[in-house]
Amino acid sequence: MEVSTEKDRFLNPTHTSGIDGREEKRLRPENFKEYIGQKQVIDNIDLMAQSAIKRKAAMDHALFSGPPGLGKTSLAMLIADRLGSNLHLISGPAIEKKGDLAAVLTNLKRGDVLFIDEIHRIHITIEEILYSAIEDFRLDILIGQGASARTMQIDLVPFTLIGATTRAGLLSNPLRDRFMATFHFDFYSNIELGEIISLNADKLDLKIDPDAIIEMAKRSRGTPRIANRILRRVRDYFVVYGKDKISKVEVIKALALLNIDDEGLDAMDRKILTVMRDYYSGGPVGIEALCATLGEDRMTLEEVYEPYLLKEGFILRTPRGRVISEKGIAQIK
Ligand SMILES: Nc1ncnc2c1ncn2[C@@H]1O[C@H](COP(=O)(O)OP(=O)(O)OP(=O)(O)O)[C@@H](O)[C@H]1O
Ligand SMILES: [Mg+2]
Repeated sequence: MEVSTEKDRFLNPTHTSGIDGREEKRLRPENFKEYIGQKQVIDNIDLMAQSAIKRKAAMDHALFSGPPGLGKTSLAMLIADRLGSNLHLISGPAIEKKGDLAAVLTNLKRGDVLFIDEIHRIHITIEEILYSAIEDFRLDILIGQGASARTMQIDLVPFTLIGATTRAGLLSNPLRDRFMATFHFDFYSNIELGEIISLNADKLDLKIDPDAIIEMAKRSRGTPRIANRILRRVRDYFVVYGKDKISKVEVIKALALLNIDDEGLDAMDRKILTVMRDYYSGGPVGIEALCATLGEDRMTLEEVYEPYLLKEGFILRTPRGRVISEKGIAQIK
């Protein structure tokens, strides 16, 4: 598989930058066997891919939704690999002009996979050219203005669009309706996270006690990317202190350095809970007010922090705003 990333500015820096980026790449699942969990998604995708191969056609378009770090990009890479196709990775908000997207689309080869990250953040006027592109493999481009304006049509080769979004609800209806399959990624169980950690510990040549792995899994916020981050910090102990085996003690020290508590909450999670308790008497508080007090932008709060806090019941959503729960209050005592 060849991974093309188009122009530099399309690159999502979080996936590729610096040393961390290289290591991130090493820890990505290299095949479906290494891709743990999300079984329902995998079974469906596998069927879609096999059918496409047999029909000698492009795989149906698919939408991946779910919180960050749950394996959307990793799965897109595996799909392209399975199809024997090239993968083109672009990020929705980085597409500035219709022409940028048109250039990407006209450069696709038959059966290629186009992965658009944060697809809900594509500008609506740019998004419109995707409609005919994915429905009929055709580009409709308006040339000129006013009375002399005309539409030019360019045929595209069949390709597969995989859209990824942390907020499926923000996708426009015409775009959402054109995906033939939609998959929601759930947080991982501790057992699955433990499997991912063991697998990646092997890749990094680390020996870790089973109870230390359980401790890491429990504190990974249901998220493989966080599990990997914890694993890397634990690895630093291994390297610096020359241990031959990592035990729970080192894991707990590493987690303390990362400011991660016994429920896997980090400093920002606890700040959110503290602000709710102390500034807003536990709530209800509107999202805008909460963001202003925290100095955090709304999207980050809604997409990165809130889903896990809600899922684990640290905060609750009511028609009048967010409320901290008993469990949330107990966590910041
Ligand atoms: N199912 C999985 N099995 C093993 N490792 C995984 C799995 N899912 C994710 N990972 C690990 O977590 C890291 C982050 O995953 P990935 O970049 O695919 O998430 P994402 O959903 O695309 O996140 P974002 O929404 O922020 O783009 C990967 O590099 C990989 O190491
Ligand atoms: Mg991604």
